[in-house]
Amino acid sequence: MSYNNLLVEVEDRVVFLTINRPRALNALNDQTFEELRHFFSTGYRECGDFHGVLLTGAGDRAFVAGADIKEFLDVAEQGNGEQLSRRGQEVFFLIERFHRPVIALVNGFALGGGCELAMACHLRVATENASFGQPEVNLGIIPGYGGTQRLNQYIGKGKTMELILTGDRIGAEEAHRLGLVNYTLPRDEAREKALELLRVIGSKGPVAVAQSIRLVNAYYGGDEGFHAESAAFGETAKTEDFREGASAFIEKRIANFRGK
Ligand code: CAA
Repeated sequence: MSYNNLLVEVEDRVVFLTINRPRALNALNDQTFEELRHFFSTGYRECGDFHGVLLTGAGDRAFVAGADIKEFLDVAEQGNGEQLSRRGQEVFFLIERFHRPVIALVNGFALGGGCELAMACHLRVATENASFGQPEVNLGIIPGYGGTQRLNQYIGKGKTMELILTGDRIGAEEAHRLGLVNYTLPRDEAREKALELLRVIGSKGPVAVAQSIRLVNAYYGGDEGFHAESAAFGETAKTEDFREGASAFIEKRIANFRGK
């Protein structure tokens, strides 16, 4: 199995899945989404019998810095924001509903779609330099890959509202205190901890593990909030503010939003 933007290695029955676009801080472009979709729907079968997946970002700066903003001007042009959001949600549901544990080793920025990706994983282990946020509001849009729904599940309404409305980032210690990550540790220890968790879970009955994942997810019920998020993402992606926000990021300047 070979991908352009994903590295897949199997060692001691652990799949090491690395998003490999370090020069773009591992931003999730169209191709990376399709590769993730392929891996979590069928590609994983080529990895044999494994305990679980350790998902991380290449390099030492970022887990994933979000959706690829450089593709956003096309989205503004084509008016397909709602489809883009639905596609991202579908891929993240594949991860959240995967029958083996997927642990995010969050080794730097986990912003926007990167924070949403980490939240779709079953467990999160952060390195001390990790940071988390939903900065979409800085681009004139909202989180579109489940962030408005899952962040609530981890950290509650008050802090979710604050992070999504301000676009502010929080550090790994605070993410741990709030319950967004399971552990925050120095880099080497974080990797070891993630592997230890996979080994422990791998020693349990695979059917029980798969059913546990399914039932813990079931507690959170239906998908209406996710559908509403996609529709609202589509609306915000049709605004002039979105075009302005994406252009400002690309041109490395402050956006001038006008509310239309
Ligand atoms: N998309 C595309 N390229 C990105 C990117 C992204 N999300 N994040 C970073 N990059 C690129 C930068 O453009 C830059 O490329 P160039 O060298 O070609 O200029 C390179 O990665 C390094 O980034 P910076 O120079 O910006 O590095 P920095 O250290 O100054 O800042 C950062 C790091 C704070 C993470 C900053 O890059 C940043 O704010 N990135 C965007 C984060 C963001 O807004 N994410 C949300 C995206 S929207 C989303 O995800 C939508 C959704 O829910 C559906």
